[in-house]
Amino acid sequence: MRILSGIQPSGTLHLGNYFGMMRPALALQEQGEAYYFIANYHSMTSLFDAPRRRQNTLDVALDFLACGLDPQRTVFFRQSDVPEVCELAWMLSTLTPMGLLERAHSFKDKSAKGIPVNHGLFAYPVLMAADILIYDSNIVPVGQDQKQHVEMTRDIAIKFNEAYGETFVIPEPRIKADTAKVPGVDGEKMSKSYNNTIEIFGDEKVLRKKVMSLKMDSRTPDAPKPDAEHNLAIQLLKVIDADVGREWEEKLRAGGLGYGDLKKKLFEVYWEHFAAARARRAELSANLDYVNQVLREGAARARAQATGVLHRARRASGLE
Ligand code: ADP
Ligand code: TRP
Repeated sequence: MRILSGIQPSGTLHLGNYFGMMRPALALQEQGEAYYFIANYHSMTSLFDAPRRRQNTLDVALDFLACGLDPQRTVFFRQSDVPEVCELAWMLSTLTPMGLLERAHSFKDKSAKGIPVNHGLFAYPVLMAADILIYDSNIVPVGQDQKQHVEMTRDIAIKFNEAYGETFVIPEPRIKADTAKVPGVDGEKMSKSYNNTIEIFGDEKVLRKKVMSLKMDSRTPDAPKPDAEHNLAIQLLKVIDADVGREWEEKLRAGGLGYGDLKKKLFEVYWEHFAAARARRAELSANLDYVNQVLREGAARARAQATGVLHRARRASGLE
């Protein structure tokens, strides 16, 4: 079984990315041959600062390795180290109806918000399809917001197979229901674009303040809270540790628990959860030669695989 996922180097890793995508992806490392990559071509649709992209790319590499990516097992690489994916994206784009792209949430949301939309952003699901198909991927672990893109990938692959004969494996999204849409500090989906994130790695004081500033209602500590499951701190606690989350949900429901104490608990559990990863990340940051070597070796393995599939597609479509 081939498992593949990617993350854009467009900002700082947050709880949504970690629990929605990274942790499920890391758990799948044991169950098949995993390919995880840093989607730096994708980041070009919205980030126009070269040093920033370089730095963010290194940060994603550190994040993934610190959180448990095993480079012996998993092929870990930068998207742009396999430029073949761009050729495949071109081939796929010729089978992608305009209407399909016009229906993409990512594009619709950004244009609705008045963000200037470039062709790359419009065509982004085609590049994502190429990312997935060029590695013969079976399973794609992602958060809920990426489901539509994987469905588009399936549509495009089926069209190609119909036009040119069986060429591509049809992939499936893998979405973990309980962490598919982690809420941000405002209760909306946590996202870099909404300025509502809680980062995984960062300054303790700043992050404590973010957690302690979560907005709660004005009921007194004594009041029972029959709607405890809707409380944002409880929801986040459950994402990080389901058992502790449920236990504190019952405490809140019963009454007698103040929001300050609840948020303190949330911060503690969150900070402790990433303590080991934080230490590993600090070690890795002092050993960038190792990190760069992992990416170089990953690129060579990924490229060998991608070249084979690209040739298959070139032969099937009459380019060769
Ligand atoms: P962002 O929305 O912050 O820009 P990305 O688009 O870079 O995040 O997402 C990287 C991965 O993390 C994707 O698989 C995405 O589905 C997942 N993800 C992002 N935000 C969340 C969230 N709030 N809950 C669950 N998964 C998420
Ligand atoms: N579009 C994904 C995101 O923004 C990142 C991504 C690019 C990806 N190519 C992919 C995810 C292929 C899974 C598979 O989060």
